[in-house]
Amino acid sequence: MSVYLNGRFLPLGEAKVSVLDRGFLFGDGVYEVVPVYSNKPFRLDDHLRRLQRSLDGIRLANPHTIAEWRERILQLIALQDFADQSVYVQVTRGTPGEGQPPRDHVFPQATPPTVFLFAQPLVTATPAQKAAGVCAVSAVDNRWLRGDIKAISLLANVLLRQRAIDADCAETVMLRDGFLTEGSASNIFVVKDGVLRTPPASNLMLTGITHDVVLELAAAHGIPHEVRAIPEAEVRAADELWMTSSTREILAIVKLDGVPVGAGAPGPLARRMDALYQTFKQEVMRA
Ligand code: PDD
Repeated sequence: MSVYLNGRFLPLGEAKVSVLDRGFLFGDGVYEVVPVYSNKPFRLDDHLRRLQRSLDGIRLANPHTIAEWRERILQLIALQDFADQSVYVQVTRGTPGEGQPPRDHVFPQATPPTVFLFAQPLVTATPAQKAAGVCAVSAVDNRWLRGDIKAISLLANVLLRQRAIDADCAETVMLRDGFLTEGSASNIFVVKDGVLRTPPASNLMLTGITHDVVLELAAAHGIPHEVRAIPEAEVRAADELWMTSSTREILAIVKLDGVPVGAGAPGPLARRMDALYQTFKQEVMRA
């Protein structure tokens, strides 16, 4: 497998980073995950804009222009021998050079960032998962207050996600101060009486590219939708609950904390939105 590291494409086994890299020592970096269908990246410009916002959020200069990112990502995609990919993009604050403290919280001076890209086969929800839906657990959102930054320091998300796995579920739905934020690695939508709802963008959550596409499709197809704060009671009384992300796409949550959501099966709006999303994807890829 060919990966990209700091200006070079090379086999995975040859890609090496210093143990003093700030990504390793501090989790000091940001990332993106871009879905690729039939060798075409989906919504790449949106991902690159969000990467810029994440870099701004951690005060790290973007090492590349949009055109340079595009070129590297397209080259990486072309080097893989599978067509549907999940491209991972990571930028860290790099490795302090000679004469600088090897480990200091303070930003190092004149240190180039570490840029790492690799691709894995894209694993979306299986037809069986789509047909049956998945279960989720809920938890208090105990992450830092900058969920809008797609930071590589994901310890809280890792621990939260593992709770779901330990319960044989797919995702952890997070609540902060009695309101829905998002999933440990996804955004969450609630359907009640035919209205689709999701919380507004804020520092407390990552606004997903998939989430934005879902809202665009809802608007384009006349599906009633609202972006507003969602109290826990509305999550628990939902007719439908969905998780969305670049890799899971739109996936119905049919059980929350062991309690069936609505009818306990993927609802009509989830099926409709998934169909709209699949059609939209295909149209974009053909264009
Ligand atoms: N995560 N919220 C969180 C906390 C996420 O980690 C993700 C995606 C999303 C959905 O964003 P998008 O629709 O742009 O993928 C929301 C990726 C897939 C990951 O960490 O692997």
